[in-house]
Amino acid sequence: MKNLVLDVIKSRRSIRKFKSTPITDEELFTIIEAGNFAPSGHNEQPWHFTVVKNSSLIDELSSDVKKECETFPEPFIQSMSKNAAFHVFYHAPMVIVVSAMPNGLTKVEDCSAATQNILLAAESLNIGTCWIEFINIGFKNTEFKAKYLKKLEIPEGATPTMAIAIGYKDMPNIPVKRKNETCYNIVE
Ligand SMILES: Cc1cc2nc3c(=O)[nH]c(=O)nc-3n(C[C@H](O)[C@H](O)[C@H](O)COP(=O)(O)O)c2cc1C
Repeated sequence: MKNLVLDVIKSRRSIRKFKSTPITDEELFTIIEAGNFAPSGHNEQPWHFTVVKNSSLIDELSSDVKKECETFPEPFIQSMSKNAAFHVFYHAPMVIVVSAMPNGLTKVEDCSAATQNILLAAESLNIGTCWIEFINIGFKNTEFKAKYLKKLEIPEGATPTMAIAIGYKDMPNIPVKRKNETCYNIVE
């Protein structure tokens, strides 16, 4: 079967090279609205989206996250901190930080559903995104957390859970084969 939604789901890829021009406000609000329409446990809708448009702040956040990676107990993450070419947000002109509000029993799942809605809505407009979990390495550190809760004006009680690099694509969607086409079983 084939339709537009299925095409968008199948064609979306993580984009890691962006044009410097940010997406328009109309595109941004359309995409955020799609995030806000995600399902959530008990319909709590416990998410908050912080749109970071300031490129020096995005760069500062990237280099501070990389500093936190230096002591992270995982060789791959540590190696990324030493990689001068690595920018946590791939120089995207805009980053959306998704925070979990204190209400709700399934905050991380809810924020993940909202994030996926954002990724798919963006793809439907041919806008590139990459889900960035790396930001969490920074938020594990108390000083980093205090600094960026303030700088990003995160609402009281909200916890940043993931981020999304977003912008016009400067690379194609590269098709990736599924690792396991039979990732299911049917019980009758
Ligand atoms: C929970 C989660 C965390 C991720 N964190 C990162 C990240 O920090 N940096 C990054 O470049 N990609 C990150 N990704 C993107 C994955 O690497 C990517 O989805 C995966 O390689 C499959 O590629 P695709 O998105 O093109 O299908 C993350 C994806 C998920 C779902």
